[in-house]
Amino acid sequence: MKNSLLWKLFAVIAVGTVVFFWLVDLVASHTEDSMSYIDQEYRAELRAYAKEAERLLYDEGEEILSKWVKGIEEKEDTWIAISRPSIENLADTQLSERYISTFSLGRDLEWKIHLYFAGNPTMDIPFEDGITRFLIQLPQRMRPGKNLFIIDLLLQIALPFLILCLLTYVLYRYMMKPLKKLEKATRHFSEGHFHVRASEGLSHRQDELTALASTFDQMATRISTLIVDQRQLLADLSHELRTPLTRLNIAVDCVEHNQNSKEELERLRYESANMQALIDDALTLAWFNTESPKLELESVELTSLLQVLVEDARFEFSNHKVTLNQPDKDIYISSAQQALSAALENIIRNGLSHTPEGKTVNIQLTERKSSLAICVEDQGIGVPDEYLEDIFKPFFRIKEKNSDNARIVSSKKSGYGLGLALAQRQILALGGSIKASNMLDDNGERTGLAICIHIPYDGESL
Ligand SMILES: Nc1ncnc2c1ncn2[C@@H]1O[C@H](COP(=O)(O)OP(=O)(O)O)[C@@H](O)[C@H]1O
Ligand SMILES: [Mg+2]
Repeated sequence: MKNSLLWKLFAVIAVGTVVFFWLVDLVASHTEDSMSYIDQEYRAELRAYAKEAERLLYDEGEEILSKWVKGIEEKEDTWIAISRPSIENLADTQLSERYISTFSLGRDLEWKIHLYFAGNPTMDIPFEDGITRFLIQLPQRMRPGKNLFIIDLLLQIALPFLILCLLTYVLYRYMMKPLKKLEKATRHFSEGHFHVRASEGLSHRQDELTALASTFDQMATRISTLIVDQRQLLADLSHELRTPLTRLNIAVDCVEHNQNSKEELERLRYESANMQALIDDALTLAWFNTESPKLELESVELTSLLQVLVEDARFEFSNHKVTLNQPDKDIYISSAQQALSAALENIIRNGLSHTPEGKTVNIQLTERKSSLAICVEDQGIGVPDEYLEDIFKPFFRIKEKNSDNARIVSSKKSGYGLGLALAQRQILALGGSIKASNMLDDNGERTGLAICIHIPYDGESL
């Protein structure tokens, strides 16, 4: 989901916090409410005072009652009054019976006490007659909500604080998990462990942070392939340079000792030209690998390009036959002429190099729906099936086991194994594809190699 982290954060922080504070408020007010009543035990005590006062009034007389009241007032540090109020209706008005029966001077014992009022309320307990009232200011020790401050502190500050700390920690862990993996992967990667990936174990999450991890993985894959390829290229290149360098040294020695100087100078020129070509090809290959370049496209007329390439090949390999089958019209494609002709030239030269003299290499251009196929088919001995993909790897050459057998090789055959690797990168950079396959006779024997290139084509031909 797009911006899913935003939605998760929104759900947790915005919605979660509002719900959380609403709950805290609910719990706090509920707790406060339940703390606002006089304890049952105190209610019983107050009722007992009223009962005793009533008994004293009727059995012992007001004097004894007054003494008793004074004693209680002193004991509870409060005041007590025993009163008999009467209601007088004036101006011929009438108070409803409901008010007369519920009339009181103080608060009923069952009523809620307002915890935030400074003074203590007056409690009103009627005697049996329903008119005489025992009034007592609630003694301080009986006042409810004594721990209100601490409970408020706990409920409204400490509890939200703790829960928010916990929530922050959980959120932090959730956010940090992919970041930590990414940090660890980056560290390992920088230490040279190119196989590390950051998104392993995060596939269940689909958010911006996992997208970051998979972008890192893509980068890691690309960089590690590049580094491994580059290392391999460098190792292969230095290995390949060893032989011509040795030969160069020998030639220089010979020149120094004036032995066959002219011949050796020729050799020096030949070897250094060879090395130059090897290094140029290796650098071009490295450029293709690292830059993945997009070649600048131009309009190329393919049939005449093939014609020129075929004529060059016929000139270079005059003892071979080179045939060209292509539509009898101009075919314009959007391509990079230099890269395309270099790739084709390499493939045609390979075909001819691996084909015995007198035999044919056929080049076939076929128009397809949205592509063009250029196939170079030779009459050499082909390539063992297991190597059909390997021949496109840099410096890959098939070892000649029985060089004296059916494999008749031309003297121009041997190279450094960079030709097809370069051709493949050039064709890929042009948005095309390249594939090698063996051609077989009726007995399943290889009769040659076919290398086919497919390049995109929108069907426009003039
Ligand atoms: N037409 C072909 N027939 C048989 N083998 C081939 C053919 N083209 C290429 N190969 C094999 O593939 C290898 C790689 O070819 P390439 O990249 O052109 O390198 P190079 O020509 O420099 O050896 C060659 O060494 C050869 O073994
Ligand atoms: Mg070659």
